[in-house]
Amino acid sequence: MLLGVNIDHIATLRNARGEGSPSVIEAAKICISAGANGITAHLREDRRHIKDNDIYSLKNDLKCRLNMEMAATEEMQKIALDLLPNSCCIVPERRQEVTTEGGLDVFGQTEKIKKFIHPLIEADINVSLFIDPDENQIRSAAQTGAKFIELHTGAYSRAFNKTNEQEEFLKLYNSAILAQSLGITVNAGHGLNYENVQRMHEIPNLHELNIGHSIICRAIFTGLDDAVKNMLKLVTKS
Ligand code: PXP
Repeated sequence: MLLGVNIDHIATLRNARGEGSPSVIEAAKICISAGANGITAHLREDRRHIKDNDIYSLKNDLKCRLNMEMAATEEMQKIALDLLPNSCCIVPERRQEVTTEGGLDVFGQTEKIKKFIHPLIEADINVSLFIDPDENQIRSAAQTGAKFIELHTGAYSRAFNKTNEQEEFLKLYNSAILAQSLGITVNAGHGLNYENVQRMHEIPNLHELNIGHSIICRAIFTGLDDAVKNMLKLVTKS
């Protein structure tokens, strides 16, 4: 199973000060040198975290394997066709949401999605649809011509260690099997952390997990001790 690291939260932190630190590119370099198989970044319509410069720099300067998350809008399609990332994950987007809340409704707009992703597929971009683990969504995704889906693991992640964990896990499991039987490669992501990620191994042939928040949170705690000690050395130097 591959790991794509979502670095949106590095950009959120950088944007809090409106300057260049922490650098998204430096963070991506560390992820890749640590062994991550790729970088995922969501260019939102409101550019609240990742900016256009970031996404171009990740692709053209760092030349990392890049998964661009994007809404199904004309503007994003134009950028993706210019940028040519390795993959595009089509996500629903609402301005007010804190993060991507639900999966893309492919069932309700199959023809629209099919038309939208066609030029991206023609441009040799691996197009993935971020959908809930639901039979209708999966069958519809297969009809669009997308060769990849990313199963939304948010409900499973929230249910982890609760009474409905198994129910939510089985939705993912059955959805992955169904999608694979329809010739679709299955990725998964959202809300995965160092505990709930373990069960992803029970799902056969998952291709890639995209994980962001828990990794960036862990990095703060694994790095804070060192950061304070280094500053202390400078502050206490007499
Ligand atoms: N996959 C998709 C499609 C997402 O929208 C996100 C969140 O941006 C992730 C994966 C990563 O989720 P998390 O930050 O909770 O690990």
